[in-house]
Amino acid sequence: MPSIPWEEMTALAKKAHSHAYAPYSKLQVGAAVWTGNRIHAGCNVENASFGLTVCAERHALACAVAQGERPLALLVLAQTPRPLVPCGACRQVLWELCAEDLPMACCTLSGQRLSFVLRDLLPSAFEKGFIPS
Ligand code: THU
Repeated sequence: MPSIPWEEMTALAKKAHSHAYAPYSKLQVGAAVWTGNRIHAGCNVENASFGLTVCAERHALACAVAQGERPLALLVLAQTPRPLVPCGACRQVLWELCAEDLPMACCTLSGQRLSFVLRDLLPSAFEKGFIPS
């Protein structure tokens, strides 16, 4: 497998971050997933009906799925005092469609970075295997 293009992912996540629609929380988030083929970016999109908000990570993931692809790496970017790690809902949705060892980089615009693999962030996950066939 070619090496993960973290720099290009950062550039595309930054661009998506600048397009985030976050008038309520004022927290802009950008994300990028690499599929081995290309990079898909996403941003958070809020709504006056707060529960309808879409997180940046799920946005980027859905863009990959729409092209028939699956993430092989994820990068999240926000201007926060420490790197923003994906929320529980995003972890669960990533778990459904990505490998347990999905490499994840959580970055601030000022250059702080935390690295994880998905299973670090969602131990003992609920998954489709629990659903009766
Ligand atoms: N948000 C994300 O985009 N990703 C996360 O993992 C956590 C939260 C967004 C949703 C909302 O627009 C804002 O950050 C505040 O929760």
